[in-house]
Amino acid sequence: MKMKNEVTYSRRLLKYLMVGLLVLLGLVCLYYGTLLSSGLPSADESFDDGVDPVTGRYVLKKDFDELFDDEEHNPEVLKSIPVCDLRYSELIPCLDRNLIYQTKLKLNLSLMEHYERHCPHQDRRYNCLIPPPIGYKIPIRWPASRDQVWKANIPHTHLAKEKSDQNWMIVDGDKIKFPGGGTHFHDGADKYIMAIAGMLKFPGERLSNGGHIRNVLDVGCGVASFGAYLLPLNIIAMSLAPNDVHENQIQFALERGIPATLGVLGTKRLQYPSRSFELVHCSRCRIDWLQRDGILLLELDRLLRPGGYFVYSSPEAYSHDAENRKIWSSMYDLLRRMCWRVVVRRDQTVIWAKPLSNSCYMKRTPETLPLLCSSHDDPDATWNVIMKACITPYSASMYPF
Ligand SMILES: *[C@@H]1O[C@H](CO)[C@@H](O)[C@H](O)[C@H]1NC(C)=O
Repeated sequence: MKMKNEVTYSRRLLKYLMVGLLVLLGLVCLYYGTLLSSGLPSADESFDDGVDPVTGRYVLKKDFDELFDDEEHNPEVLKSIPVCDLRYSELIPCLDRNLIYQTKLKLNLSLMEHYERHCPHQDRRYNCLIPPPIGYKIPIRWPASRDQVWKANIPHTHLAKEKSDQNWMIVDGDKIKFPGGGTHFHDGADKYIMAIAGMLKFPGERLSNGGHIRNVLDVGCGVASFGAYLLPLNIIAMSLAPNDVHENQIQFALERGIPATLGVLGTKRLQYPSRSFELVHCSRCRIDWLQRDGILLLELDRLLRPGGYFVYSSPEAYSHDAENRKIWSSMYDLLRRMCWRVVVRRDQTVIWAKPLSNSCYMKRTPETLPLLCSSHDDPDATWNVIMKACITPYSASMYPF
């Protein structure tokens, strides 16, 4: 009897404790909730504060320290960063074409330097928040966003018009819809992905191949439909494209909720350490892979894991006209010297695989190009590192053969 009493007593105690904890949690949430909502400026407030948002940064400077001194007692301190003028709603600070014109930067267009990062000097930086476009709506959530986004959120319908025949996207009322096509995959990205898995003889035509393929880099990704259809297959694709003549393709990808970034294979390494991806994909990415002794393929080589795949769907891989055949045979020769092997070539796609070890490199005659990179080159350094036309070998300690 006594035992039973003790048990009910401790049960009751536990119940009170739990209720107390919940009430406390509720109060804490309420406190931080009000703190946050008061800290966020409403759009109306920030627009009519009368300060020119761009020149406003000079006005701000004088009491900047004061603001920070008081930060502790003033949770609304963030309110004081002005919103930029609406004409800057497309500004991407270190990828600003106007800045390149204005500062007359001498960039080599054939090296794509104009698509690489060029950050403005201190006094040309806008200390303001980029405003959303007029009529901005809360984005449609994944997975519905794979197929449609609000038109108001991406005021570029030019690309939609240009690509309508290729089935990339269509404007439909207040939405832009993505039928899952691409320049290369008219039948939809899902069928294309299954076809690739089939070419690689992966069980069940599943590209993830039981978890062996998890990280994919898609270069020249368009609106990233390839990446969009990989996500449900447990594969994360980083989709990469420059902010080129097509307007900002990446913005569509991000609005859809697909991992993507603005970038280009130009003169600097991409921002990933060596051996980051199991598969790199390029379908009609319009990259001249033969330029500068294959420097761009050598960058892909650095990024691929041992045995990683390069899936290439481009006229160079299948067209029979003289020009494309010439490019194909040069590419084939270059990649052979890089020890990549053709795994399969079918229809409009060729898939190469990078070697699993250093042994093939060691078997090449010593003067074979491309040379191996110097052992002083850190293959994992990526910030502002200039690419070199050399092969990144596996470290001797990890891959002794
Ligand atoms: C741009 O780079 C290419 C390839 O390295 C080079 O041949 C060319 O002379 C460069 N052009 C200019 C204007 O520097």
